[in-house]
Amino acid sequence: MSAAASSVQRITAALPPDAVPEIVLDADFDDERLWVPRGNDVWSMPLMFSVTQGSWVNITRARGEGVISRHRHSAPVTGYTLDGAWGYLEHEWTARKGTFIFEPPGETHTLMVRPEAGHMTVLFHNFGPLISVDEDGNTTGFVDVFTRIEVCRSHYEQVGLGADYVDRLIR
Ligand SMILES: [Fe+2]
Repeated sequence: MSAAASSVQRITAALPPDAVPEIVLDADFDDERLWVPRGNDVWSMPLMFSVTQGSWVNITRARGEGVISRHRHSAPVTGYTLDGAWGYLEHEWTARKGTFIFEPPGETHTLMVRPEAGHMTVLFHNFGPLISVDEDGNTTGFVDVFTRIEVCRSHYEQVGLGADYVDRLIR
């Protein structure tokens, strides 16, 4: 055994006894069952749900004119663009492959794929709920970690993976 391998073993053994199990996930982009529909031409592949922090991590994929309707975030969001081009109707910038976004609490926007690319794939970390709003900013609904879990349970049941497929993602 090499010196490097034995040092890895020592680090693993040092995990505190009260730590929750890690998540190690090979998210297969090509397995369509893992993509949970989220409206027209938009899908979400969940990677982690934190029911103690109220947050979740997912890869959002959109094609064509994929749009996520206007909503407000009451907690931060980070996003890292894996592919394509996208932005918000409320902002002039365009995110492309490699673009990192930090969205502060209070940010309100309408997500759309930029037509120059026609698709986007983005790793998002939502630190809290999305509040759906209309043009005047009136609340019309919400999405939080618990509603996402329920939607994903239902989808994974439908596609034959089983509702409990989601359990491996919950911490
Ligand atoms: Fe958003």
